[in-house]
Amino acid sequence: MIIVVLCILVLSRGHEAIASSRIEDVIVRFIVNGTPILFPPTRLFLQVCIDNDNTIELSKILSSNRLMHSIRNSYEEFDSRIYNNLEHRNLYVLNLDCSYALDVLRQANSTNMFVAPTKWLLFQDRNISIVKNDNKLAFIYNDSISKIFETLAVYPDSDMVLVQRFNGDFLQIMSVYRPSPQRGVIWEDRGNWTIENGLRMKNFDVASARRRNLQQTALKSALVMTDPNTINHLTDFEDKLTDPVTKAGYPWILHLMNRMNATISFEITDSWGYRTENGSWNGMIGMLERRDIDIGGTATFLVPERLGVVQYIQLYTQTGSRFIFRRPLLSTVSNIFTLPFQRNVWIAIAVFLILVFYLLSLSIKWEYHENKEMTKSAIQWKQPNSSKPTASDNLLILLSAFVQQGSMYEPFRVSSRIIILMLLLASLSLYAAYTANIVGLLQSTTDSIKTLSDLLNSPLKLGAMDVVYNRHYFKSFQDPVRKAIVEKRIEPKGRKSNWMSIEEGVSRIKDQLFAFHGEIGSIYQLMEDTYKEEEKCGLTEIDFLKVLYPLLVIQMQSPYLEIIKNGALKLEEYGLKYREEYRLYTRKPVCSSQTSSFITIGITECYFALVIMGYGILLTVMIFALELLWHKKQKVRVREGMSDAKIIDSSD
Ligand SMILES: *[C@@H]1O[C@H](CO)[C@@H](O)[C@H](O)[C@H]1NC(C)=O
Ligand SMILES: *[C@@H]1O[C@H](CO)[C@@H](O)[C@H](O)[C@H]1NC(C)=O
Ligand SMILES: *[C@@H]1O[C@H](CO)[C@@H](O)[C@H](O)[C@H]1NC(C)=O
Repeated sequence: MIIVVLCILVLSRGHEAIASSRIEDVIVRFIVNGTPILFPPTRLFLQVCIDNDNTIELSKILSSNRLMHSIRNSYEEFDSRIYNNLEHRNLYVLNLDCSYALDVLRQANSTNMFVAPTKWLLFQDRNISIVKNDNKLAFIYNDSISKIFETLAVYPDSDMVLVQRFNGDFLQIMSVYRPSPQRGVIWEDRGNWTIENGLRMKNFDVASARRRNLQQTALKSALVMTDPNTINHLTDFEDKLTDPVTKAGYPWILHLMNRMNATISFEITDSWGYRTENGSWNGMIGMLERRDIDIGGTATFLVPERLGVVQYIQLYTQTGSRFIFRRPLLSTVSNIFTLPFQRNVWIAIAVFLILVFYLLSLSIKWEYHENKEMTKSAIQWKQPNSSKPTASDNLLILLSAFVQQGSMYEPFRVSSRIIILMLLLASLSLYAAYTANIVGLLQSTTDSIKTLSDLLNSPLKLGAMDVVYNRHYFKSFQDPVRKAIVEKRIEPKGRKSNWMSIEEGVSRIKDQLFAFHGEIGSIYQLMEDTYKEEEKCGLTEIDFLKVLYPLLVIQMQSPYLEIIKNGALKLEEYGLKYREEYRLYTRKPVCSSQTSSFITIGITECYFALVIMGYGILLTVMIFALELLWHKKQKVRVREGMSDAKIIDSSD
């Protein structure tokens, strides 16, 4: 309440003080009362041609109304970057009655000060009575001031408000812009302001809503095509495998242009655009950077290097490139022969076997001993276990029983029988559990490959789709894992590199241990076309590029940024964006018949069994060689001994 009273006091004081000033009191009151509504939170930069006393007086009024401001009363260039990051708050106020007003405007034009988000308020005091002619302000067009706008870069993103005072306290508020460099000036009647009624606006719509009609302005765009034939299938949803992102973007651009009442022409390029060695950009990004085109026609990845070179629009396809592979069988990545039992069980089995071995050797020894006693006393009775039992006999009995093979040994004493029975029963139940488990394990797939380093260390072969962006990004990685994937797997030195067509990659995923990097929509489409039902199971994706969805791009500081941004949101709201997406991008195939498939076991699945056998054979060969050596040495020693003996003999 106190503040309000204070304001009124200050205002009334200001009223008296400004009477002698060349700025009309009513305009000052408009600046004080109208601008905070028209241009919310602002810092004012005023260029007015009044003397110093009046300048101080004006400053006092503005200060007492809590308006941040700086006032110049002689010609000085406007500085566009007074406050970093807060340019959107700057309101430049210029008195068009000043003799140097046009110079100020030209200077501002040359330093690009009319682009968003800067705001301009021009005022002019015209002491003529208003001729209301259906709100058409015909008289402006003959004015020399209005001519200047024909050459200024006041495009739809600019915010240039002209306030003209006519007789009394009636202020006419207008906005001025040009739809494009090709079109003339358009005056918008925004409303008026009087002391009595305050601000009366026609509407408070933002510029991008009011200035959508570009009057058939001709804009330029570019389409990226990796295959020249794409140009024949931009709208017919055929051949979805090549350039789907181009085919999705094309209708979107047409919708946007339709909404803006603009026409568009397309250039064709084969690259999205990357920075070249000398620092310039090629492809579509280069065209945007050089301002050859207004809007990029094909969505492109949001990557840090491009920020600040082009402006991204929130219109994207939910697609991307990933490594895709079928989950490999467990047996190919780990030794399934150890998996059926937990480590504790294996330890328990080992302990049990050692125990049985020990007991068995005791009981067999005892049995042999008893037998000898009996054979000595009793009549001839053919004994199966007639020779003296050794440790290796024992081991053989143990192993043959445990692996269900049967043996020559026949226990006939109660103690040995108990031990053998225990061994057989235990091995039977263990064997049943083991075989049941291994059948399950043979069929199961592994999901242990989850990250890129898993992929690098897996037995899977890797390949990548041969497109320009893959080749670019694959070379740009610096982190060890991705670098290793590219250098060791995709482009191994001295061997054939693994860049390939999508057809080859997808057919290799089907029946090999293979992961393929490519555009997921196209890969899934090809899978739907060429895979059997059970082959669609177990598909896994791993992200490698780590970029966001591809988005549309436009020039930096494009005058149409807001209009296009709004259009993009509308496309999404209306579902037009999804229409293209649904028709062009195939989603991951559904796995519907996993159980009906059977699994063939090949050498890869039995790999570890073969490895164990191989080591066994190697060991036997080595032992054989050692035995041979030992045997030879023995012979030599015996012969030497004999000859020694002879020598001794002869000398004797
Ligand atoms: C304003 O700037 C544009 C380009 O930014 C230029 O084409 C035009 O000639 C300039 N106008 C004046 C009056 O300098
Ligand atoms: C598009 O611009 C042309 C040329 O200015 C105009 O005749 C037409 O009415 C505009 N269309 C729409 C829908 O505004
Ligand atoms: C940079 O190199 C490209 C070719 O790679 C060339 O077209 C362009 O003119 C060069 N730009 C400069 C500034 O040297």
